[in-house]
Amino acid sequence: MEAGGVARAVLRGWRTTDLGELALDLGDARGELSITEDGCVRLRAGRGASLPPRAELALGREAVRTVAPDVQETAEGVALTHAGRRGTVRVELAAEPFSLRVLERGGAPLAGFEAPIFDAFGGGSIVCHAREGERFFGFGESPGSFDKRGTSLRLRNHDVGVPRGGPRYLSVPFFLGFVPGDPTSARGLLLDALGPCRFDVAESHGDRVVVTSERDGLDLSVVPGPTPAEVLTRMTARVGRPALPPLWSLGHHQSRWSYGSDAEVRAVAAEIRRRRIPTDVIHLDIDYMDGYRVFTWHPRRFPDPKGLVADLAKQGFRVVAIVDPGVKVDEGWSVYRDGCERDVFCRSDDGERYTLRVWPKEAALPDFNRSEVRRWWGEQHRPLLDAGVAGIWNDMNEPAGWARDVRVGRLILPFQKQDLSRVVQSDPAETGHRVEHERVRNVYGQQQCRATRAFLETERPGERPFVLTRSGTAGVQSLAAVWTGDNVSRWDDLRASIPMLLNLSLSGVAFCGADIGGFFGSCTPELYARWIQLGALQPFARTHSVWLGRRQEPWRFGRRVEAIARESLELRMRLLPYLYGLFHAAEESGAPVWRPLFFEFPDDPESAAVDDQLMLGPELLVAPVMERGARSRELYLPPGRWMAWHDDAQYVGPRRVRVAAPLERLPLFLRAGAIVPTQSPGLHVGDAPEEPCVLEVVPGADGAGLLTEDDGSSTAYRQGGVARTTLRLWDRAGGRLRLEIGRRQGDFAVPDRTLRVVVRGCTPPRQVTLNGARVDEGSGVPGYRAAGGRLEVRFLERGDGHSLEVEPAP
Ligand code: GLC
Repeated sequence: MEAGGVARAVLRGWRTTDLGELALDLGDARGELSITEDGCVRLRAGRGASLPPRAELALGREAVRTVAPDVQETAEGVALTHAGRRGTVRVELAAEPFSLRVLERGGAPLAGFEAPIFDAFGGGSIVCHAREGERFFGFGESPGSFDKRGTSLRLRNHDVGVPRGGPRYLSVPFFLGFVPGDPTSARGLLLDALGPCRFDVAESHGDRVVVTSERDGLDLSVVPGPTPAEVLTRMTARVGRPALPPLWSLGHHQSRWSYGSDAEVRAVAAEIRRRRIPTDVIHLDIDYMDGYRVFTWHPRRFPDPKGLVADLAKQGFRVVAIVDPGVKVDEGWSVYRDGCERDVFCRSDDGERYTLRVWPKEAALPDFNRSEVRRWWGEQHRPLLDAGVAGIWNDMNEPAGWARDVRVGRLILPFQKQDLSRVVQSDPAETGHRVEHERVRNVYGQQQCRATRAFLETERPGERPFVLTRSGTAGVQSLAAVWTGDNVSRWDDLRASIPMLLNLSLSGVAFCGADIGGFFGSCTPELYARWIQLGALQPFARTHSVWLGRRQEPWRFGRRVEAIARESLELRMRLLPYLYGLFHAAEESGAPVWRPLFFEFPDDPESAAVDDQLMLGPELLVAPVMERGARSRELYLPPGRWMAWHDDAQYVGPRRVRVAAPLERLPLFLRAGAIVPTQSPGLHVGDAPEEPCVLEVVPGADGAGLLTEDDGSSTAYRQGGVARTTLRLWDRAGGRLRLEIGRRQGDFAVPDRTLRVVVRGCTPPRQVTLNGARVDEGSGVPGYRAAGGRLEVRFLERGDGHSLEVEPAP
């Protein structure tokens, strides 16, 4: 024991358990070391006799299966070795001073730890060696630099009001470490804490990451790569894969705090359709409620919610309604009374019901850590579901609120910070113990989403739920989409959205987006134009703004910007088949939809430094304009050949280029070898596209793709109700091209259709053949046309496989 009640661990003894774990006697602390089935190394350690709670039990994740490794005594201490499917993992422990080395594949060092310390409050910290040149990404939602090396982060979910600095509503105690240019250097570290924690990312000491959990010891997992993609595959296997969303939720969402009446919502909807702005969803913010009582409808302003939702449905809109956790303290209201009778609300340590100030003045907070409370909470959604609401938006769930406010009309000025220091909750593993809220704070929002999602799943069996959340922690992607909360209508926030969304993506959260146009403040026409160009390609695309600011529907900025918004959203609709495939891939492998360049080009050192561009899946590079007045931008193209989306201009990377970017244009590039499935754009996903399948093909390299189709809304895809078509491209010497469209696999029935292949950057050919037979030039089916540097081939696709060959003219 050292001065100040801090215990520095020494390994005094060890024994193996029946489950193959190594139980460690660390003097004043105790630990448990295991190798998990997927090759991760997990260390749980805490002061005294207690080990940290298992997050998988607390959050309802799948159990973590461990293997039984070989255990050998060594000169320094003890070593564990396991030869698994993915190679050999070895962990070497030294007794004094206690240290831990993780080695993989042929003894390559993966991670080194030393100096674990456990304090008198149950906190624990450990030093992880930072590798030379290593960059650190992830951590959930945090503003600031993309690479977090040289910074310190405290991860405690909270509402900062107008955002500045540090992490905020949602944190994921996980980083992906990567050495630029070394494709096999990726590794991850997950600190599975339920409460606040800290990462000193080589700020205090250039070669160390100090990982600290403020309470409840340490539960660390080293996640091997070797590639960034493999780290995410394993990380999301552990905490939860991104759930495949319903297709409609991939359309554009229109929101504003607040559409205040039935008439206003109808008017917005009518205007969206009249102006032909592709949109699928309208959000109802807090003003649909009666006095901000959750689950109610305002009787005068929303007299017939069912009628409203049904009429909107006829026009192809879904409705998403906001549900905050705070329940208005109102003895005369059944939901509050029922909640009190069932004792669902959090209490202070003196046994009093805890309340805080939120929109409905005094509000009580459900204790979502108890399964019966989650069920109760779910049940309360019935009035919303009965009205036909399609999805639920969980906001203020850090939880946010304040102690005192002043209200002037609709304006609410929070004056005193909330104090949740005395609030207690159920232990999330439901062992019957109570824990201080702070110890489990970071899971509060996620537990709300769990309640919401579970209810939607029970009430609408076989349907994919849509839940949107502001707060959460590791694994939130298996429950909800995430938006980054209250940003500001300014250029800096537009720029900041890229590193923020990329770090969220690298934290496992594939379905994420920032409010298009910015929430606070008033957006200018130019800023809105640039924002929607990028935002339309966000995984989650929603225009939202505060009631105080300028109205922000896409047509509020004049005709020119309206046309830009329409075109941007049409591009999203065009790319929907590709985007949807990325969401399928995210659920299968954890690969994010928005990817930093280095994710696709891990052996290119330059790519890791790029934080103002992104890859939308493997084939599209997006380099938005984020500077006022700019009509061109410089960007970086990684190694390989590239083609500009709008004019087929060709480039060879790696190189920096400056491209023209008039206000109407988003710099967007296709990678050579790409086969991007697209469709003709509709006004919403239910609008049957005139052309359901158009393959955009980019010669210049061999390539592969996958077309994934299903009913877009049910869970039948999990039982084979999906159609998968593999796509292959060979770009042979002399400009000969061969495109193979595989035989469709799976049980989902796709009707026969005319498929169009567009080969970009292609001169008129000598001959085109389909399955060996010559195709004639002309507008027949099959038939081809060549003009303007593109070749277009149309033919009937029945799912039985096709091979298309293009012979260039000599
Ligand atoms: C919070 C949300 C914002 C919402 C507002 C009113 O500030 O982040 O999106 O509009 O509350 O519900």
